[in-house]
Amino acid sequence: MAIPEWKLKKEIVRIAFGQMRQNDVPDQVMDANNFDEQQYGFGWDNLLEMYGHRFDKERINVGPNSKYRTFFNELSEQLGCDEVVPGTTIIENSAFEFIKTLPSITIEKLIDALNQGGVQLDFRPALSKLLSSLNNKLTIDVKNTQAQELNLFSTVGKSWYPIYYTPSENLPTIQEGLQCGHIDQSLYYQNTDAVNRWFSITNDEFYTGFDQCKTGLLKLIRLKHWRDFVSQKDCDGIVMLCGGGAHSKDAVLIKCLLDTIKERDKQQPLQGKLKYTLVDRSSAMLELSRTRIEELLDKRDGHDYIEIKALRRDVMAMNGSEPVRSKGSLAWFITGGTLGNLDESRFFASLENVSQQGDLLILGVGCVDENGELDLQALAQEYERDVVKDLVSVPLSAVWSTLSTDESPDEALNSIQVEAVSGTYSAVENSVTVVAKLPSKTMGEIILFKSSRYHEKSLIAFAKKYQWQHITSIDGLDSSFKQIVLQRV
Ligand SMILES: C[S@@+](CC[C@H](N)C(=O)[O-])C[C@H]1O[C@@H](n2cnc3c(N)ncnc32)[C@H](O)[C@@H]1O
Repeated sequence: MAIPEWKLKKEIVRIAFGQMRQNDVPDQVMDANNFDEQQYGFGWDNLLEMYGHRFDKERINVGPNSKYRTFFNELSEQLGCDEVVPGTTIIENSAFEFIKTLPSITIEKLIDALNQGGVQLDFRPALSKLLSSLNNKLTIDVKNTQAQELNLFSTVGKSWYPIYYTPSENLPTIQEGLQCGHIDQSLYYQNTDAVNRWFSITNDEFYTGFDQCKTGLLKLIRLKHWRDFVSQKDCDGIVMLCGGGAHSKDAVLIKCLLDTIKERDKQQPLQGKLKYTLVDRSSAMLELSRTRIEELLDKRDGHDYIEIKALRRDVMAMNGSEPVRSKGSLAWFITGGTLGNLDESRFFASLENVSQQGDLLILGVGCVDENGELDLQALAQEYERDVVKDLVSVPLSAVWSTLSTDESPDEALNSIQVEAVSGTYSAVENSVTVVAKLPSKTMGEIILFKSSRYHEKSLIAFAKKYQWQHITSIDGLDSSFKQIVLQRV
């Protein structure tokens, strides 16, 4: 029996839990860090796949004896649903019956979300209708289903948090990028609207990169080498490079650090806090992550154990002055395939300045099968979705009127070409790169972004030139995305 109106119910649940990414809901409900496959009878990957794509398919059994019942049971409890057997309404009844079980405070949240652009476009009319039908139960005032995108920054902070920067660092501009033929990728993330657009990408059901990467991190934290590393006395903490806006991945690592350090503290009182440092060139991305991470530390009583730092810094220009280390070892991360957006040689050279022997480096990267055939056209098409186009075209149109060109912004944006090519755009041998170019009549060809996927062995060989020795590689949901674990010798 398929679950009726599953997609609409998923959207309701996502909002009820506070505007999280759709596929972070299973983590919220079952705590992915401590998920016990034996106990539940299904794997984490299975739950993600079912939640994301399959609960509404015919012939899916979520009947009384289904192993997934525990999940719905827990979901219903956490949402505070008013029903006799928890989880039954969402599985068996209509979306309307389901919202009738929700507490009135959640209904208010749904109304606010609808009025403030916090409901994904596809679901607005249906949700508006449902909420209006509740009219006799509550005073419902659905004003504006045409609202713009949600402002993710309208959060309630309890305190002040620093974001460190150094005035000696030059920030690039889009104009400079247009002149030199390559726009720095971080420029697409500079303001709050851009952060909302990034959220739309990660929330898009066709964007699998986030789940691939997060699943790999969940596997990493169970690895003996990793556990030994974070348990050792001289582990100073973690540095997340280019990681702004991926706070549910930070949460995986921070929860793991907290569990380990609390254990360590029992055996021998701690000398100081572990550091979790975010390094990103966008203050807006840092700010959003920081807010969410602080909420997590509040919830888990983590402030006595972990110090969060946010550095606005170009990861390509680190020089050792960054306040990331006390005396011990660090684990460096660059997740979500972001290495593929950068010049790998410059990235590794910069990392050389700040890393030291014994440090770990975890690269979350897209991988191409060394023997398999790759459909380059299909790869390029993944980047032609509207959510990705918006990320690039909005900041570009914003500066267009200041350029001395006769081309209209629409004309320019319509001429963007996306192609996947082997070699050429990456310093790592055998890579395949998706590249988006703007063939401007007046300014010549401008590279808007590049995204490379790697042959695993070639990337390992490349890292070795910079003293990083391969420890192991961990698949995400499948072998097309890996966490490559390296240690500096
Ligand atoms: C796609 S987003 C976040 C991806 C994230 N790593 C993940 O796992 O989902 C890429 C981030 O990289 C940052 N970024 C890009 N180039 C950078 C650079 N040279 N230095 C620092 N941050 C950079 C951007 O500001 C943006 O926040």
